[in-house]
Amino acid sequence: MAVDRAIGVGLLGLGVVGTGVAQTLLRKPSVLAERIGAPLVIRGALVRDPAKARALSPLPFPLTSDPARLLEASDVDIVVEVMGGEHPALEYLEHALRAGKHVVTANKEVMAKHGHRLRALAQQLGVQIRFEASVGGGIPIIGPLQRDLLANDITSLRAIINGTTNYILTRMANEGLDFAVALRHAQELGYAEPDPTNDVEGIDAAYKLAILASLAFHTPVTPADVPHEGVTRLRTKDFQYAKELGYAIKLLAISVKDDAGLSARVHPALVPQETLLAKVDGAYNAVEIKGDLTGTVTFHGLGAGAQPTASAILGDVVNVARALCGHAQPAAPPLSTPSKPAVRLRGLADLVTRYYLRMSVGDQAGVLAQIANVLGQQQISLASVIQKDADPAAKTAEIVITTHPAQEARMQRALEMLSKLPVVKEINNVIRVEPV
Ligand SMILES: NC(=O)c1ccc[n+]([C@@H]2O[C@H](COP(=O)([O-])OP(=O)(O)OC[C@H]3O[C@@H](n4cnc5c(N)ncnc54)[C@H](OP(=O)(O)O)[C@@H]3O)[C@@H](O)[C@H]2O)c1
Repeated sequence: MAVDRAIGVGLLGLGVVGTGVAQTLLRKPSVLAERIGAPLVIRGALVRDPAKARALSPLPFPLTSDPARLLEASDVDIVVEVMGGEHPALEYLEHALRAGKHVVTANKEVMAKHGHRLRALAQQLGVQIRFEASVGGGIPIIGPLQRDLLANDITSLRAIINGTTNYILTRMANEGLDFAVALRHAQELGYAEPDPTNDVEGIDAAYKLAILASLAFHTPVTPADVPHEGVTRLRTKDFQYAKELGYAIKLLAISVKDDAGLSARVHPALVPQETLLAKVDGAYNAVEIKGDLTGTVTFHGLGAGAQPTASAILGDVVNVARALCGHAQPAAPPLSTPSKPAVRLRGLADLVTRYYLRMSVGDQAGVLAQIANVLGQQQISLASVIQKDADPAAKTAEIVITTHPAQEARMQRALEMLSKLPVVKEINNVIRVEPV
């Protein structure tokens, strides 16, 4: 249904991203109006506390703490959700769709956990739900997966999709900072939340991977399907040894489809220094996709921040608004619902990959032979060994081993056996190596 009036936008949230969206919309109204064919007007913003001082002053639209004021307003065509969190955002999004509003959201948690249902509901109701800003900030990645790459059979997706941890790991690698110090710097700069759990434990990356994998592999993938490990066990020594071996360490989100099935996981990984992913530093994000037709394509850019995220949100808003004005077709069905039912994802135990192990061992003859023997019993063979830092007082040495490809379940058994060897004082870290 084409409209011949201004397109009304209701903002749910006026924090970092909401303010970025409002500022951009107010700064370039005529450019956006020209691209849409009608002006965009913010009808109001939902906030927790309307009395709080705002970065935008004076505000040219009203604030409210009553969601119905926007969700049911007849002059709101597009609801832009930039509140974050699962609840009540999920309920507000559902309410908006049922009220016939088109929805644009930046909410990775809601889209990862409930995206399939919300997309199906939107399709059933004949409205659009768009979520480009939910992954990769300003990087266009959802659109390409929903449109431009549709002719491909995608075989793998490897991504650095958490800017906070990438910033922390970059500082640890380049400046030898401890994890806690690098985290504090990230918090001081506003890259990390006061409670950084979701970022540093890999939860945020798992949300985003669930969204990307669902689109890339045309099947529902939820965060519960994505085993995740964070970065808190990484030490500066790991970065030094990795560098010596020719690798960077990155928190990778990986989803692979092969003859054995589909898998998805988030964990730190040693990545060869010469690869593009190894060179993605600071708060930048990158998504590398392998398609049967395209080969490898890599999307790179700022993964967060008010303006890059506003770019993604307003791109979605402009697209919806253009369709409302009759200048573009609404989203085609494949964009709205995955075409295949859910498949069971392969567990981590089946994974075959290479490993980096760092261990403190007794500084005595025959230690390496004992370790190699245990690994050999699990059919794991050594690729390289470095022995370091003998501590004469404690009579310990540090051994760093890399392995040839081995099955995860066998590696876990080997680690248990190694931890019982009297010569092994501590298994300090185990990091997977990618690609295999
Ligand atoms: N920050 C980024 O760079 C970035 C990048 C990509 C995606 N995102 C996503 O964008 C969303 C927003 O992030 P943000 O950084 O802008 O968050 P934020 O700065 O914390 O802002 C949240 C806004 O939502 C309002 N709000 C929160 N809960 C509410 C509730 N229950 N009822 C009414 N209003 C509520 C807050 O109101 P008050 O102002 O009154 O507190 C605030 O205005 C999240 O989903 C986030 O994951 C953020």
